[in-house]
Amino acid sequence: MEERNLRYETLADEFAGLIDRRVLGPGDRLPSVRKLSQEKRLSVSTVLQALRTLEDRGLVEARPQSGFFVRRRPLARAEPEARRTPARPVKVDISQRILRVLQLNNRPGVVPLGAALPDTSLLPVKAIQRLYASVARQQPNLLRSNSHTDMNEPALVRQLVRRSMSWGGPLDADEIVVTNSCSEAMFLCLRAVTKPGDTVAVESPSYYLMLQLIESLGLKALEIPTDPRRGLSVDALDLATREGKVKACLFVTNASNPLGTILSDADKKRLVRLLEARGVPLIEDDIYGDLQFGERRPWPAKAFDRSGNVMLCASFSKSITPALRCGYVAAGRYATEVMRQKTLASGATNPVTQNVLARFLETGAYDRSLRALRRAYRQQVERTADAVSRYFPEGTRITRPQGGVVLWLELPGKVDTNLLFERAAEENIACVPGDLFSPSGLYRNCLRLNCGNPWTPAIEAGVRRLGELAAALPGA
Ligand SMILES: Cc1ncc(COP(=O)(O)O)c(C=O)c1O
Repeated sequence: MEERNLRYETLADEFAGLIDRRVLGPGDRLPSVRKLSQEKRLSVSTVLQALRTLEDRGLVEARPQSGFFVRRRPLARAEPEARRTPARPVKVDISQRILRVLQLNNRPGVVPLGAALPDTSLLPVKAIQRLYASVARQQPNLLRSNSHTDMNEPALVRQLVRRSMSWGGPLDADEIVVTNSCSEAMFLCLRAVTKPGDTVAVESPSYYLMLQLIESLGLKALEIPTDPRRGLSVDALDLATREGKVKACLFVTNASNPLGTILSDADKKRLVRLLEARGVPLIEDDIYGDLQFGERRPWPAKAFDRSGNVMLCASFSKSITPALRCGYVAAGRYATEVMRQKTLASGATNPVTQNVLARFLETGAYDRSLRALRRAYRQQVERTADAVSRYFPEGTRITRPQGGVVLWLELPGKVDTNLLFERAAEENIACVPGDLFSPSGLYRNCLRLNCGNPWTPAIEAGVRRLGELAAALPGA
């Protein structure tokens, strides 16, 4: 993994944290360049680079002959507001629009602020390549395994169980079904516990692929309100599940997409108890669980599950590489049915890939690469937010994600970000309009930006141009 000039970034982050926590207040003077250079044992140019980074982020200002000071008026950063959601479930009809957005966003050469994907320079691709070569050499029989009977590779299951010990596990090896992705895991769970016409509760806003899955299975979606800081409203879910119409819940509890919220442990516990009492299965998407920005890996709701009612889905698409196509579900008491659905849908997941992943987890390489990746994502999210504060129209609200790779913006006025998306696409800038995150069209003035790429002048120019285009929208 490439480590980019981390020393100046680390110093900049340290001061950004002090400013954020108000240890350094508006107008305070930062230590001099010479002092910082001595204290931190960094070169003068590294310290200067850190201070300029803080300046770029709008946190400090340079005063000639006096030094660097915390800005008196930091760039405004209000957060989006919670919204009311429709009381009834709705039919989902969104796939065509999603497909169009994804196609335009995936053209070569676009400024990659669309799909929630990391830049490959940040990913441990070389290590994975080496592991493919050695696994294929050392375990040639893997290519003779029968993909319809040998579903799970024991080495991978062992690692998944082991890792779960760090977040309230252990998972039971018998409940695990290895899948081709997190999306496949969620698809199989939905197939296992619903039938066409049923209602599935989703967060509002909700990751658009979940809406696509719901649409493709002929289900209806009931949007549950969220708080842009705390995530899902368990109280609202309590009300929504009283009449017994909700047949399953599909939630991202850790670093949700698009809000980046992590549900508190207390809320996770309440959620698990509530759904257990009502007999409603929870399909939990924990793809960002390892990619939080805080001190500890947040527990998934699954950690509070005593009865097997939670189906925990995840993959390594955001944390190793999306090309691995390997995920899993720990399906609790639904495991037999989920396994049956997996056999019907696609047979086993590639056994070579499963063993490659097992080795990567086993050797500690995954944890090492995660540390750098989390730092990179956090910095990139922070920089994108700074640039949005600077270049988007006044009144733009921005989330403060607790993990993951995306930012969610709420634009002022009565604007339609579908139009912004079209205009940006003409200029080769990708982004995702808010409309795709709600089956009832609740977020037409919102926008999601991917922050998975290292900060470059091209990305900054893309954010700036998006801000200009946003300011020129009808209704702005
Ligand atoms: C919340 C969430 N779940 C699942 C996925 C897709 O993961 P996979 O590539 O494993 O299907 C994504 C990708 O953007 C995501 O953001």
